[in-house]
Amino acid sequence: MAINLQDIIRERYSVRFYREDPIADDTRSALLASLAALSRGPLGSKTRFSLIAASGEDRASLRGLGTYGFIKNPAGFIIGAVEVAEQALEDFGYMMEKAILEATTLGLGTCWLGGSFTQSSFAKKIGKRADEIIPAVTATGYAAPDARARDLLRRGARSDTRLPWEALFFDGSFRTPLPILGNIQASGYTPALEMVRLAPSASNKQPWRILKDGSRWHFYCQRTPGYGQGSRYFTLLRLADLQRLDIGIAMCHFALTAQQLGLPGNWAVSDPGLEPLNDKTLYIATWNGDR
Ligand SMILES: Cc1cc2nc3c(=O)[nH]c(=O)nc-3n(C[C@H](O)[C@H](O)[C@H](O)COP(=O)(O)O)c2cc1C
Repeated sequence: MAINLQDIIRERYSVRFYREDPIADDTRSALLASLAALSRGPLGSKTRFSLIAASGEDRASLRGLGTYGFIKNPAGFIIGAVEVAEQALEDFGYMMEKAILEATTLGLGTCWLGGSFTQSSFAKKIGKRADEIIPAVTATGYAAPDARARDLLRRGARSDTRLPWEALFFDGSFRTPLPILGNIQASGYTPALEMVRLAPSASNKQPWRILKDGSRWHFYCQRTPGYGQGSRYFTLLRLADLQRLDIGIAMCHFALTAQQLGLPGNWAVSDPGLEPLNDKTLYIATWNGDR
């Protein structure tokens, strides 16, 4: 993992315009080596990842698979599969984001693509088994020099903005926003929370909410009404419940930053039964820290 993970997280953005060049051999080998280690998510689901060079057919098929935005000239795709399990989506989100941070460290651009890949040519390329799903793939390659400025979708999704701290993090109950300074700063977790805040999410909806409960940090998904599982759009396109991938991504940023700061902890699924924000709040998992 990166020498300075926080810089890598800040550097990453969704690249939708790539240079024509293929991925350099040494970069490809380094990324493949990292992918080979991504075999089990923090909540126990089995995952595997591979890197393929993009064919014209792959590029053309994206639109029909429910992804949004136009991805120009990706050199390749990181494809992942996860075994069907209770928290497969969170685990997949966590592990794919880990792959993305590795790719960013190696100088590659990336873009998450949520779509119905389970029965696509991407599924064939990774040899998807019957007990696996492919909730998303990641486009990758070298960012075109003007990739960020040219990308009109960024404005539409307000991709350069994030919700403020007080809308996301809470202390003891959802009625009390977590103060940035004070206790929390003393406990050392401020950067881990900030790295969650900067994470990518489907349509930049940022559904993560974290409730601090002493040394335990409960992660919730605050579902966007009309978006995700059960919505007509997602059902029609057979999209995975992308907001649960988003929580896996948040967990990844949190745990890797905590690890880098020397803050020990582990994940458990144990709903504390606290009063939710509203009926769209879904408990996901808890980080048990030592402070
Ligand atoms: C689970 C997931 C699915 C996404 N699906 C797409 C997609 O289909 N097409 C696309 O262009 N961007 C997609 N994105 C990228 C988001 O739009 C992007 O992360 C968000 O707008 C924030 O912008 P940033 O990544 O540049 O910080 C997806 C992101 C996530 C996490």
